[in-house]
Amino acid sequence: MIGFFDSGIGGTSIWSEVVKILPYEDTLLIADSKNAPYGTKNKDEVIFLCEKNTEFLLENDSKIIVVACNTATTQAISYLREKYSVPFIGIEPAIKPASLQTKTKVIGILATQGTLNSKLFHQTSQLFAVRNGIKIIEQIGYGLVELIENGQLNSPKMFSLLKKYLTPMIAQNIDYLVLGCTHYPYLIPIIKQILPAHIQIVDSGRAVARQTKKVLEQNQLLTSSVYSAKHLWITTKNRNILSQFAPQNVQIKYLEKIS
Ligand code: DGL
Repeated sequence: MIGFFDSGIGGTSIWSEVVKILPYEDTLLIADSKNAPYGTKNKDEVIFLCEKNTEFLLENDSKIIVVACNTATTQAISYLREKYSVPFIGIEPAIKPASLQTKTKVIGILATQGTLNSKLFHQTSQLFAVRNGIKIIEQIGYGLVELIENGQLNSPKMFSLLKKYLTPMIAQNIDYLVLGCTHYPYLIPIIKQILPAHIQIVDSGRAVARQTKKVLEQNQLLTSSVYSAKHLWITTKNRNILSQFAPQNVQIKYLEKIS
């Protein structure tokens, strides 16, 4: 079983990429929507929630855990790796590929407050962008996760928030927009209506999937099954909203509390 968790439905965007390249692996995903967003919580609170999620996944036979949340990765992954012996796969904004490919030397990033204020993000930006003379336009995606979690993905409010956040980036000549939150790939169709066509949008889903496969191989943990896999998604809040993101082969369950 591959375990996944996120503060909400965002983890499902990572799950989709992993399942594409590891189709025979059973999966269990926690969408902790009751506690979303994690991005505005302090480090201790995020660690506490990540521990609960991890323990639940371990009790249910996860052999590897994908922390499918940028905020949880930046705040808690080192702690989790020290405390538990299973491999953890984390997710970070794709600053490196964007920095290597930008021509205008200006890239934009949309992420949560927790991610943008983290030490890990600061280090990555220094290493790959700032030291190479690349300017990063940072924008906290205030309200975006909350709207997605409330079923208002395709709302006028979402469009106007995104327009407000992206317009200054366009004016400053970005040619790459990094999506630093696993909820945001679901916004791509709306973002494309706002950004000029030459601006590339990058997220980390595929890289995380490849890394998950590699770590399973290295630890000889790949399944030998060739039968269709079982997939269960658990939500701590609203079954109906999570179902809108689920393919047909996924079972969905509501659990009030993960403990
Ligand atoms: N999907 C989470 C992330 O990637 C959302 C953050 C939050 O809950 O604030 O950061």
